Amino acid sequence: MSSPVPAKVLVIDDDKDLRYSLKRALAGQGHTVIEADSGETGVALAKRDQPDVILLDNRMGGMTGIETLQMLRGAQPQAMVILMTAFGTTQTAIEAMKFGAYDYVMKPFDQAKLIALVDRALGARRDLASAGKSARSLVNPADYKEGIVGSSEPMQEVLKSIGQVAASDATVLITGESGTGKELVARCIAQHSLRAKGPFMAVNCAAIPENLIESELFGHEKGAFTGAAAMKPGKFELCDGGTIFLDEIGDMSLPTQTKVLRAIQDGEIQRVGGTTTLKVSVRLVAATNKDLEAMVAARQFREDLFYRLNVFRIRLPALRHRKDDIPLLIDYMLQRQAAAKKLRPKRLSNEALDALMAHDWPGNVRELENVVQRANVLAKGETILAKDLPQEVLNPRRAAPPTAPAAAPSFAAAPAAAPLAETTAAGASMAAAYEAIYRQNRLNDGKNILSVIEVEMIRRAMEETRGNQLRSAMILGINRSTLKKRLIEMREAGIKVFS
Ligand SMILES: Nc1ncnc2c1ncn2[C@@H]1O[C@H](COP(=O)(O)OP(=O)(O)OP(=O)(O)O)[C@@H](O)[C@H]1O
Ligand SMILES: [Mg+2]
Repeated sequence: MSSPVPAKVLVIDDDKDLRYSLKRALAGQGHTVIEADSGETGVALAKRDQPDVILLDNRMGGMTGIETLQMLRGAQPQAMVILMTAFGTTQTAIEAMKFGAYDYVMKPFDQAKLIALVDRALGARRDLASAGKSARSLVNPADYKEGIVGSSEPMQEVLKSIGQVAASDATVLITGESGTGKELVARCIAQHSLRAKGPFMAVNCAAIPENLIESELFGHEKGAFTGAAAMKPGKFELCDGGTIFLDEIGDMSLPTQTKVLRAIQDGEIQRVGGTTTLKVSVRLVAATNKDLEAMVAARQFREDLFYRLNVFRIRLPALRHRKDDIPLLIDYMLQRQAAAKKLRPKRLSNEALDALMAHDWPGNVRELENVVQRANVLAKGETILAKDLPQEVLNPRRAAPPTAPAAAPSFAAAPAAAPLAETTAAGASMAAAYEAIYRQNRLNDGKNILSVIEVEMIRRAMEETRGNQLRSAMILGINRSTLKKRLIEMREAGIKVFS
């Protein structure tokens, strides 16, 4: 089988035999191969011929591969460089990646694997070329000094709400799934309030043990309990004149809820173990990812406290409901992460963006932020590719379809209706194999994937039956004549089958 898109490959190696065998294998795939016997010649040829992929030996007379690699970045920055070395050290591996190699392989290598790697590099190269065309900045971080990015309609509503409520002294309840930006919004409200110069403190009600939360919020007197060696003021007291942010309020116990209610209603607190009442002026902003209404109905949350908190509600949309914002958010994150390291921001390939747009983001903006940060570190060149993204983004675990794929009627007619991969003993590796086929196909811009799988199945059956067509057809659940036809097609396409 030849590679779908022929490309120009430069092989830089001082070993003539190796160059020859690589040239033969690559030419067999339809690629044009250029040879260089030293780094110096290689750089000159890269400049002249602008290859797509460069296979580069590390140990050569003259410049080393790592040195050549650095020169190549200037000569042909778009090329995907694969460094080959017989003397692997972690140092070389790290340097290869640092200087922008696409990958790094150890000699001796399996030629078929190297060819597959070249194919992958070419896929990435095409991806990069299309990213180059569409590269432009979507946002200017200076326009987002609050750190809240989003131009989708639901986010515009959120921003308007912040504007409406910030300058009042009203209590605000922010709800939304985990990672939607509740804390960010709480801080923004505080910054735009009349108390902006006052203190802002956050208390995470879920993170503080029950026996300490009261003291955390209201403080304690010396000797109030074992370990209370000195008087300690609580967050309400410390926030006098400012804003207190009660995060994860849905995780607060009922007894603590009662005390918080009193603090809000009367503007008065008492330290644990104390007798005097202190007047405090605190603006309250609360947040939760729980369904407080349902908790009230289930008597897990005080109804009166709920109404006290729910004076003004800001509902943060889940990221999957405002996917238009994803490119903006990514651009913002890339710029910020680069600025923090004083680097030029990386770009995002179209394929990577497609994957990021298709993902459901159960962890919302926080998850996106983590994924972008990780990809930013993993990306070897100037561009983040799909392969720099984590598995869960590339192949989300959707609910399995109730029946086998309809495209294969013989499978569907099988007695078990569960997906094929799960019915085999080797289910996991089967699923992995499918995954590999799927991803490879995706990189190659779609051959008929069903025929790819068909070929594998036929090959498997013919191997097991040692070329017995009748038995193979029975195992596969297809007509013998269909099998015959397929076998002829496969042989014509140069696909080896047991016979
Ligand atoms: N609109 C946004 N623009 C830019 N960054 C955002 C936005 N929303 C959230 N983030 C970022 O995502 C991360 C998570 O936000 P935040 O901590 O405010 O979420 P949360 O709703 O409080 O989550 P949790 O419920 O898990 O506490 C933060 O790093 C924040 O800066
Ligand atoms: Mg939070």
